[in-house]
Amino acid sequence: MNYIRTGSGQPLVLLHGFPLDNGIWQLLLPHLESHFDLILPDLAGMGHSPLPHDDYRLSDMAAALADLLRGLDLPRACVAGHSMGGYVALAFARQFPEMLLGLGLIATQALPDTPKRQAARQQTAAEVAAKGPGVVADAMAPKLSANPAHEALLREVILRQPVPGIVNALKAMAARPDSTDLLPGLTCPIGIIHGLADALIPPERAREMKSLLPHASLSELPGIGHMPMLEAPVQTAEALKNLL
Ligand code: MLT
Repeated sequence: MNYIRTGSGQPLVLLHGFPLDNGIWQLLLPHLESHFDLILPDLAGMGHSPLPHDDYRLSDMAAALADLLRGLDLPRACVAGHSMGGYVALAFARQFPEMLLGLGLIATQALPDTPKRQAARQQTAAEVAAKGPGVVADAMAPKLSANPAHEALLREVILRQPVPGIVNALKAMAARPDSTDLLPGLTCPIGIIHGLADALIPPERAREMKSLLPHASLSELPGIGHMPMLEAPVQTAEALKNLL
């Protein structure tokens, strides 16, 4: 698993969303480096991380993260995930609760895909396999941020992702389980961060998670879309500091 490590303090893993890589956290780093030992992996098949095999699930990505942390001699860490990275963070919380110091859920949800969404993912996966990452860049880059100034950067990040990694991630997201049952049992510090102008995952999903997590902090960001780390880095960093 390729990763960047920077800063010092309590370990905090930041897991990027789909179909992006660890470069997406860049604007957050200056605000967090003096508070956290930051570990920024590229998830399997994205960025510079290899895809171990064709049917690599989000639970496998969580297991790979646990291996990475053990290899770094970090028995426990805070784990924060954005969107698909949040699905991986929830899988990590289910599989490795003893390793979790805190959980950050950024523009994500506990619910699984509906059958309709699963079918759309399979269709997109087939189109990406045939035509390349431009298919998802065209569909997603204009919608990810509420600030149109971010579209070109997002398009660039999407276009640099390897096709097998995008195809695998689509299938892995479609196959993810419902994480709702997990939430009431989580006792570690939890920060939920969600843009109120998120065009991909509605803010209701964050509120539903909060209703099952009375001790969690919920930061709702007015005017912010699906990319709080780009659109509101200072507020996103402040919310993550609540995990300390
Ligand atoms: C993401 O931003 O990681 C994805 O859009 C999440 C999803 O498609 O469910």
